[in-house]
Amino acid sequence: MAKIKSVYICSECGYESPKWYGKCPGCDNWNTMNEEIKETVKTSAGVKKRVSVYSKPVTLNEISTDEEERFDTGFSELNRVLGGGIVKGSLVLLGGDPGIGKSTILMQICKNLSNLNILYVSGEESKRQLKLRADRLNVDNSALSIMTETDVEILCEEIKTQKPDLVMIDSIQTMMIKELSSSAGSITQVRESTNLIMHTAKDFDIPVIVVGHVNKEGSIAGPKVLEHIVDTVLYFEGDKQMSCRILRAVKNRFGSTNEIGVFEMTDHGLVEVENPSQMMLSGRPKGVSGTCVTCSLEGTRPILTEIQGLAAQTSYGNPRRMSTGFDYNRLSMLLAVLEKRAGYYFNNMDAYVNIVGGLRIDEPAADLAICMALVSSLKDTPLREDAVAFGEIGLAGEIRSISQPQQRVNESVRLGFNRIVLPYHNAKNIVCEDAEIIGVRNIRQAFEALCE
Ligand code: TYD
Ligand code: MG
Repeated sequence: MAKIKSVYICSECGYESPKWYGKCPGCDNWNTMNEEIKETVKTSAGVKKRVSVYSKPVTLNEISTDEEERFDTGFSELNRVLGGGIVKGSLVLLGGDPGIGKSTILMQICKNLSNLNILYVSGEESKRQLKLRADRLNVDNSALSIMTETDVEILCEEIKTQKPDLVMIDSIQTMMIKELSSSAGSITQVRESTNLIMHTAKDFDIPVIVVGHVNKEGSIAGPKVLEHIVDTVLYFEGDKQMSCRILRAVKNRFGSTNEIGVFEMTDHGLVEVENPSQMMLSGRPKGVSGTCVTCSLEGTRPILTEIQGLAAQTSYGNPRRMSTGFDYNRLSMLLAVLEKRAGYYFNNMDAYVNIVGGLRIDEPAADLAICMALVSSLKDTPLREDAVAFGEIGLAGEIRSISQPQQRVNESVRLGFNRIVLPYHNAKNIVCEDAEIIGVRNIRQAFEALCE
């Protein structure tokens, strides 16, 4: 007999409570506790599984460490992010804003893997829509079966009978288990559906790619629990208006989480970008103040990006500060350092920072270029076009050394930059003949080095 009781679950963090709260005690968000009916029925795959398969303890020596088998996805950028391809039996969660290209990349993987038997399950689009997209992308895979189903149990039955090589589910928020009374997309449904799919996939060693929607804060909707269940979490980032798309691994049980893959959205779907630096720098304005190029390290890959800064007279009492692609609080800190330590005053200025190309930079190595772009705009003095700057800025206004300077220098030289401004302590060890290496100790020195 099913026992029914009602619980309140936070839609942000999954906090569960028998009582309603206005503010979630788990994550302090307001108005996120939703009522859900909790039934203790035997839907959870875990219950059935525990009875049928008993996992005996083994010693470490008994466990085989053969290379795990991976599928090449046909996209080297995607393979890199996954750590070398899709591992058999793994569950990959692909998140991203609507319209960023999640369904497109799935369809293109189907195109690349035309020798595999793929099951594509869509709860969002009709078969006709899928066929139209497949035609537009020239997908010609006779072994690709399309299923428009939202009932997870039917889907798992299909997986068991058909035993495809790869399953794609678009999206997990549309999938539901009929026996649970909450609506599709609710936390209970998302969590239980994922669990059931995961157990089916692991039992038959079938890899599954699941699409997950993101909420307005940008994390995958249907809280963090989902990220704990799956093996790999990938995020598709980028500005929808711009063609550049960045695929980033946030969690990966089979590889590094630092790598990124860069794609460009074209009329024929997503195309890999082999030379991201060149793409990020295309269309850079010449002879204008307020722009500076930096080199940031994404995983093992150095990428050159343009940083734009704008300082404009404020028309309100409180000057505005805005940053796109860079941490807002760090920008406030850098502005304070510029005023107090270098004498560049922004107190009656609105300050805007933009990382061009939709990239997000979390590295402190971008500090110097951000300051230089802002100072250049404040002074209305263009910086040298052929110069790159990178370095971390400390609270005393000093330029601190950063990791992997040689790699960054090599990438800058490869793209034809002639002057490289970097922290003084890094400059000593750099070997470079094709460009001028200038080590700087403070912000003023750096600005001079970039102007003259
Ligand atoms: P889609 O992959 O459906 O996004 P998601 O599944 O993440 O919501 O669509 C991505 C966008 O890309 C859509 O606005 C249309 C555009 N697009 C192209 O520019 N070229 C193409 O070849 C395709 C298939 C889509
Ligand atoms: Mg879609």
